[in-house]
Amino acid sequence: MVSRKEEILVKLLALLCILAPSQGKGQRHSFPYLRPASSFSSLPQTHYYDYIIVGGGTAGCPLAATLSQKYNVLLLERGGSPYGNRNVSYMQNFHISLADMSPNSASQPFISTDGVINTRARVLGGGTCINAGFYTRASPRYVNEVGWDGKLVNESYPWIERRIVHFPKIGPWQDALRKGLLQAGVSPFNGYTYDHLYGTKVGGTIFDDTGYRSTAADLLKASNPRKLRVLLHATVQNIMFNTQGQKPKAIGVRFKDELGHEHKAYLNQKTAASEIIISSGAIGSPQLLILSGIGPKEDLERLRVKPILYNQHVGKEMLDNPMNSIFVPTKKPVKQSLIETVGITKVGSFIEASSGFGQSSDSIHCHHGIMSAEIGQLSTIPPKQRSLDLARSFAQTKKDIPIEAFRGGFILEKIDGPLSKGQLTILNTDIETTPNVTFNYFSHPQDLRRCVFGIRTIEQILRTKSFADLSDVHNYSSEEVLRMSVRANVNFIPKQTNDTKSVEQFCRDTVITIWHYHGGCHVGKVVDQEYRVFGVDGLRVVDGSTLLKSPGTNPQATVMMMGRYMGVKILRTRLGRAAGV
Ligand SMILES: Cc1cc2nc3c(=O)[nH]c(=O)nc-3n(C[C@H](O)[C@H](O)[C@H](O)COP(=O)(O)OP(=O)(O)OC[C@H]3O[C@@H](n4cnc5c(N)ncnc54)[C@H](O)[C@@H]3O)c2cc1C
Ligand SMILES: *[C@@H]1O[C@H](CO)[C@@H](O)[C@H](O)[C@H]1NC(C)=O
Ligand SMILES: *[C@@H]1O[C@H](CO)[C@@H](O)[C@H](O)[C@H]1NC(C)=O
Ligand SMILES: *[C@@H]1O[C@H](CO)[C@@H](O)[C@H](O)[C@H]1NC(C)=O
Ligand SMILES: *[C@@H]1O[C@H](CO)[C@@H](O)[C@H](O)[C@H]1NC(C)=O
Ligand SMILES: *[C@@H]1O[C@H](CO)[C@@H](O)[C@H](O)[C@H]1NC(C)=O
Repeated sequence: MVSRKEEILVKLLALLCILAPSQGKGQRHSFPYLRPASSFSSLPQTHYYDYIIVGGGTAGCPLAATLSQKYNVLLLERGGSPYGNRNVSYMQNFHISLADMSPNSASQPFISTDGVINTRARVLGGGTCINAGFYTRASPRYVNEVGWDGKLVNESYPWIERRIVHFPKIGPWQDALRKGLLQAGVSPFNGYTYDHLYGTKVGGTIFDDTGYRSTAADLLKASNPRKLRVLLHATVQNIMFNTQGQKPKAIGVRFKDELGHEHKAYLNQKTAASEIIISSGAIGSPQLLILSGIGPKEDLERLRVKPILYNQHVGKEMLDNPMNSIFVPTKKPVKQSLIETVGITKVGSFIEASSGFGQSSDSIHCHHGIMSAEIGQLSTIPPKQRSLDLARSFAQTKKDIPIEAFRGGFILEKIDGPLSKGQLTILNTDIETTPNVTFNYFSHPQDLRRCVFGIRTIEQILRTKSFADLSDVHNYSSEEVLRMSVRANVNFIPKQTNDTKSVEQFCRDTVITIWHYHGGCHVGKVVDQEYRVFGVDGLRVVDGSTLLKSPGTNPQATVMMMGRYMGVKILRTRLGRAAGV
C-alpha cells in the first residue's frame, strides 16, 4: 500500500529527472528535496521560510543542512545538480570541466583585468565540484586570529571529514615531491594529517581511490529533508528590504528560474529572527549586495540602483593568492594527480605539485592536469597579453605540441596572505555578468619576495636525488627545457634563479591563479564578527568573501567548516540547549 505522501514524492522525483538533464545514470544519490526552480510556484507548500540561503556552494550547503535541523530552509542555487555529471564526478575530467565554457557548465570562466584566467563555480556544491580536491585545515593560530570558538571549530571540521574526506594513496609524483621537500629542508615530515604544521605533509582529499569526487552537496544528506527545499537554476537577482522601520530589514529575494521566469520568496515575518544568508562566493556575494542597494555610493549612483545603505567597503579588498609553477620533464609518463602533498615553509609560501598525462600516444588527448592548456593557464604568455579566446584556440591546436612536452609534472608555489589588494567593479545591473575583478598581483614587494623564495625552493627540490631519479631535468640543458616548455604551453623557466631580478620577472610573467580568491565582504567592514551585514537587519554573508586571509594552505576545508560552524552558532543562539547540536 503506497501512501499519498510517497506517491507525491515519486511523482516529484520523476519530474525532477525529466527537468534536470544532468540527472543521469552515474547518479549515486537522490535527494527528494532537489527541485528545478520553476517548480517553486506550483508546489503546494508555503512560500515562507525561516532562512533563505543564496548560493548552494562550499559554505551554503553545510549551512543549509545544519539550519534545516530545526527550521524551514530555502536554498537557492543558480547552477544545476552535480549528480550524474561526469565532468564533476571524476578526477580525470578536472581539466575538461574547467574548459567547458557553455552556459550549463559547472564552471564559469572569467579573466581578471590583470590578465589571469580564472573561474567561478556554478553548480550545487560550488567550488567543491570543480576544484582540485585538496583538503587541509587552518591552523589554531588562524582560528584564534579570526576570533572563532576553537572548540566549536574542532567539532565542525570532523563533521565535514567523516562525510566526504579521505586520505589519498599517493602516486610517484606526489611521493617524489614529499621526498624532495624533505631533502630540500622543508621538514619534518608530519605524515598524513589535516592539520596545518610547518614542514611536509600529505593532506586529505575529496576524491576517493577510484577518482570519484564527493562534494559539499553530499553534506545535504545530513539535513532534515522535510524542512529543506533546494532549488536548482534559481538565480537570485536581488534581496528585498522593508525600509519602513529604523533599520532596513531583509524580507525576501527575487529570483529567476531556468525558464527565465521571475519568482519572489519571502521570510517568515512572524519572528524577527528569520534571515537571508548570502553564500554566493567571493565574487557573487559583493555583487549581490551592490545590486541590492548596499555598496559604495558612486557604484549605486552609476548603476542607478536604489540605495538601501552606503558602504564603501563592499567589493573592495579582493585578494587572490598568486601561483607560479615549474614544469619538470620526466623519463616516463607519470600518473595523473592533482594536489596531495604540501610543503609549508615559514616564509609563507606553500609548495604543492600536480601531474597529468593521458595514456594516449597523441598529445591532443594528453593534458597537464591543473596546468592544462584547456583551462587557459597560459603562463607562457605574460598576463596582459592573455585572453579567454587565445586560451580556447591554444587548447585546440595542442596537437602540434610534441608528446615529450606532456611527459612530466609541475611543482608549484602559492604565497600565503597576499598584501597586494584589488577590487571589483560592477559593469551592469545584470547579476549574470561577472564584474570586472582586479587583484593587482605582486603590487606589494613582499609578495614578490615570497614568490622568489618559493621558486628558489622549487629549484632546490629539483636538484634533490628523488627528482634526479624521476626526471630528465639533468639530461636537458635549460634552453632545451625552456623550448619544450614553451611549445607545450607551460612555463618559461627563470634562466638563473640566483639572479633576483630574473626570478622577479619570472614571477610576474608566469603568474596564474590557484583559485583561492577571497574578500569583498570583509569582517569588520561589511559584516560584523557574527557575519551580520552592518546597518541592516536579517542579513548575513557566510562564505569566502568574508575572509581576510585564505585559511590553511588551501581554503575549502575551512569554508565548509565555516558553513557548519555558523549553522550551529545560529541554532544555539536561538534555541540554547534545545538546539541539540
Ligand atoms: C579550479 C579550482 C580549484 C581549486 N582547488 C582547491 C583545492 O584543491 N583545495 C582547496 O581547499 N580549495 C580549492 N579551491 C578553492 C575553493 O574551492 C574555494 O575557495 C571555495 O570553494 C569557495 O567557496 P565559497 O562558498 O566562498 O563559494 P562557492 O563554492 O563558489 O559557492 C558560491 C555558490 O553561489 C552560487 N551563486 C552565486 N551567485 C548566485 C546567485 N545570484 N543566485 C544563486 N546562486 C548564486 C554559485 O553558483 C556557487 O554555487 C579551488 C577552486 C577552484 C575554482
Ligand atoms: C563536459 O565538458 C565538455 C567540454 O569540456 C562538454 O563538451 C560536455 O558537454 C560536458 N559534459 C557535461 C555533462 O556537462
Ligand atoms: C573592465 O575591464 C576591461 C579590461 O581590463 C577594461 O577595458 C574596461 O574599461 C573595464 N571596465 C570598467 C567599467 O572598469
Ligand atoms: C583544535 O585541534 C587542534 C588539532 O587539530 C589543536 O591543535 C587545537 O589546540 C584544538 N583547539 C582547541 C581550542 O581545542
Ligand atoms: C639521462 O642521463 C643519465 C646520466 O646523467 C643517463 O644515465 C640516462 O640514461 C639519461 N636518460 C636519458 C633518457 O637519456
Ligand atoms: C648565477 O649562477 C651562474 C651559474 O651558476 C653564474 O654564471 C652567474 O654569474 C651567477 N649570477 C649571479 C648574479 O650571481
